[in-house]
Amino acid sequence: MKIAIIGAGYVGLVTGACFANLGNRVYCIDSDRKKVEALAKGRITIYEPGLQEMVKHNLGEGRLSFSTNIKTAVKKSDIIFICVGTPSKDNGEANLLDIENVSREIAKNVDSYKLIVEKSTVPVETGEWVKKTINAFRKKNVKFDVASNPEFLREGTAIEDFMRPDRIVIGVESGRAKKILFELYKPLNAPIVVTDIKSAEIIKHASNSFLATKISFINAISVICEKAGADIEKVAKGVGLDRRIGRGFLSAGIGFGGSCFPKDLSAFIHIADRLGYRFGLLEEVEKINEEQKARITGKISQLIWNIPGKTIGVLGLSFKPNTDDIRNAPAIDIIERLLRQGAKIKTYDPKAMQKTKKVFSGPDKKKSVIFCRDAYETARGSECLLILTDWNEFKELDFKRLKKLLKQPIIIDGRNIYDPSEMKRLGFVYTGIGRHI
Ligand code: UDX
Repeated sequence: MKIAIIGAGYVGLVTGACFANLGNRVYCIDSDRKKVEALAKGRITIYEPGLQEMVKHNLGEGRLSFSTNIKTAVKKSDIIFICVGTPSKDNGEANLLDIENVSREIAKNVDSYKLIVEKSTVPVETGEWVKKTINAFRKKNVKFDVASNPEFLREGTAIEDFMRPDRIVIGVESGRAKKILFELYKPLNAPIVVTDIKSAEIIKHASNSFLATKISFINAISVICEKAGADIEKVAKGVGLDRRIGRGFLSAGIGFGGSCFPKDLSAFIHIADRLGYRFGLLEEVEKINEEQKARITGKISQLIWNIPGKTIGVLGLSFKPNTDDIRNAPAIDIIERLLRQGAKIKTYDPKAMQKTKKVFSGPDKKKSVIFCRDAYETARGSECLLILTDWNEFKELDFKRLKKLLKQPIIIDGRNIYDPSEMKRLGFVYTGIGRHI
């Protein structure tokens, strides 16, 4: 099939590369000329395992191309995926201006039947607006369909998630649109849930909100565990083995971050409010997530006493492992909090240093945040070591060496990657989330 992908960000790029890899002809469009030029040479600016190779391979096979020219892509394609960003406004509501602009551009250029699919996470009723916009601005009176096909890609495993999804959700209004999307996804051999457009839009927000709720729930239980002297890891296992609950997304930690959960949650709270329902449950999920970050700085002062002037070693910056993404990363927020309290930071992350350097590039912060070569350089002269992202390489460190390098043998494990009794045996003062020694 011939496919246009509008927006070569995270979702668009993975979606475009994967569709091309399945044998389709994909035209990826982005308004950022520099980005397009780099992508056309096979250079991608994000770190996602396997993506660079897949982009290069499909460019070479002539199945994938990049351009800023939306007009040609629309004309050449049968299906158009809208993958542009839906950032948060200051009040947390989703900003849909890019979706509107793209819809107008598509409308001006449709010259034969097109299936226009929203892939970006959008509030319910966006599909209706896309339809209205195309009807209002199309130059030719040709038929078209709008569909919703939300993405469920996790960063770090996005290609795997695309190729082997738990389910594919398609919200359609016509048999023709349904047939095209079934045909397109046939090679994946995955369960397909067919709904109306509004239900598909809500499935996406409800899924992310539910997962975020699971995380905040287990983080709240971790507070009870700490107070009662129980172990959240054992509690999570005992709870999660009930198949109705499930093991996934019950890892207590410093809270969720990333480009999706925080943004989607506040957008969903807003939509609910607009529709006349105050979603108090999700407001609490957000609140618990904020509190987790404050709690970790509290643990530091409990162990090292006064924070001002002290150097804290921080391992991990990205919002989760296997990505260089620091958008809404709890680690960045925690570092900001520590800097405000007068701490100095030494830090290391396997992939996210480049992006983090830009955040702390101002003259005041530049001096207070030192970027290190590895975990050992981070530990050297630091008062304690803080684990903020559960990268695999942090799981197997030379603890004897670390102990010698640190000013005090203190580890504050924000992701519960170590065994408390093992840490005690090695001579560390260790504290995790929701566990006692
Ligand atoms: C998420 C959804 O999983 C995906 O389906 C959606 O389409 C996009 O948003 P992603 O943002 O890549 O994907 O990350 P995910 O793996 O879901 O983790 C989100 C955050 O939750 C991370 O900060 C992670 O550290 C945290 N998390 C996750 C926990 O704190 N505990 C857990 O048990 C699971």
